[in-house]
Amino acid sequence: MRIIAVDNIEDMGEAAADLIIEKIISKPDCVLGLATGSTPLSLYIRLIRAYEQKTVSYKEVKSFNLDEYRGLEQDNPNSYHYYMKENLFKYIDILPENTYLPSGTMDADEAIRTYKELLKDHQIDIQVLGIGTNGHIGFNEPGVSFESSVHLVELDEQTIEDNSRYFESLDDVPKQAITMGIADIMAAKSIILMAGTENKKNALRCVLEGPVTDECPASILRKHKGLTIVALKNVLNEIS
Ligand code: F6R
Repeated sequence: MRIIAVDNIEDMGEAAADLIIEKIISKPDCVLGLATGSTPLSLYIRLIRAYEQKTVSYKEVKSFNLDEYRGLEQDNPNSYHYYMKENLFKYIDILPENTYLPSGTMDADEAIRTYKELLKDHQIDIQVLGIGTNGHIGFNEPGVSFESSVHLVELDEQTIEDNSRYFESLDDVPKQAITMGIADIMAAKSIILMAGTENKKNALRCVLEGPVTDECPASILRKHKGLTIVALKNVLNEIS
């Protein structure tokens, strides 16, 4: 595992963006695995800037998002479809038909089958990950099987509470989501795990020190040969 220690959130985004831009320049039709949430926002700002400065074009890039809430329409501001459009896709030249997310509104079995089929035909070159305070990656909550592929998840109470900051009330947070599984994430050629806040310390510790246990799903990342962790120096210092 490679660790990049950074001073602040902006540098975290820049370090992750450098790796992705380098990949797109060497392989213009690469496949990116993308995440939502607050963590990758500084990365997306950099990716947009790189496009504006003509350093890179996303015309041939394909993207697969980790997850989507059940029950939210694509134009719901809390859906991950909406997030991706508003925070990245509408500012760059990626083709809408090359951007994939699980459906939040299709029949769940159908949505799972469709996303699995798509993933089967595409190997992800770089998977971007945030990490939940409970150690989730994607929406793979504690107790998930490391063999899992795309599946329907009952969100953990901790996750619902953590994500309630985006909703009017706790009751408004969807209780289910469709997520890529751990096996899908581990199949990526390389992974960038970003951690930019103090409350991720315990989750990050389980990636850095183990043990590998489904109680902390992210701990499996220790076994991935192409893992890069980009994290704040002060968080890393508190762990070691
Ligand atoms: C988002 C995702 C989640 C988040 C995690 C951290 O697509 O899959 O695993 O990465 O919940 O969220 P933030 O970055 O908001 O702290």
